[in-house]
Amino acid sequence: MKLVIGNQKSYLEKKEIDSFKQVIKDVNKDNFILCPSSIYLNEFSDLGLLLGCQNVSKYDKGATTGELSCEQIKSIGVNFCIVGHSERRQLFNETIEDTKLKVSKLLENCMTPILCVGETKEERDNLKTREIVLNEIEGALDGLNEELLNNIIIAYEPIWSIGTGVIPSNPEIEEITKAIKEFLYKKYNCNNKVLYGGSVSCKNIDELNLIDIVDGYLIGGASTKANELIEIIKKCE
Ligand code: 13P
Repeated sequence: MKLVIGNQKSYLEKKEIDSFKQVIKDVNKDNFILCPSSIYLNEFSDLGLLLGCQNVSKYDKGATTGELSCEQIKSIGVNFCIVGHSERRQLFNETIEDTKLKVSKLLENCMTPILCVGETKEERDNLKTREIVLNEIEGALDGLNEELLNNIIIAYEPIWSIGTGVIPSNPEIEEITKAIKEFLYKKYNCNNKVLYGGSVSCKNIDELNLIDIVDGYLIGGASTKANELIEIIKKCE
């Protein structure tokens, strides 16, 4: 069974969320985590789904206008949170130090960070994928309490693949996933789940599922279309 995490970004408006919910309500809940926009988290609380946020504040709860603190999201039953997504790094100037603070706060609050890492097209063309990805992981985790690091999920998301319909070949995904797992095991003695993200859809899920070492998927666009998402989840059971 592979884990499916839906990152709905800021695509859906309220009416669309209502119809999404109608279709998704009977989904198998064993291998699925939904990360809707935070304003809709409560809409899903009666479905018994595992829920995640798409971002969290690096500050403690308090005087931080517009932020959502770890304590707050935990208090409404959210146990997962995406951190370090490339859209946050590129559009909101999130640094690796910010990401580390967020990972640390989530772990302290017994939540599971979903740490996103991945290279740009240029870095890929310069054969830097492995170096970039492992540096990002090290930058976000070094110095944190090693006993807690097993609770992190890693999502390998090549930036050039997000929203483009273009994905790496299976051997490429396999190679980098293996490198990430080996790095985490050697450096921190951890056996983290490693997911693939970037243009995952109904069209490529059968092919992607052939990669045994990948533990699941972080899905953007396709997670906003309930029927497609359900089909993907079924294929991952
Ligand atoms: P897409 O599935 O839309 O390419 O997005 C991937 C992603 O960014 C998930 O976090």
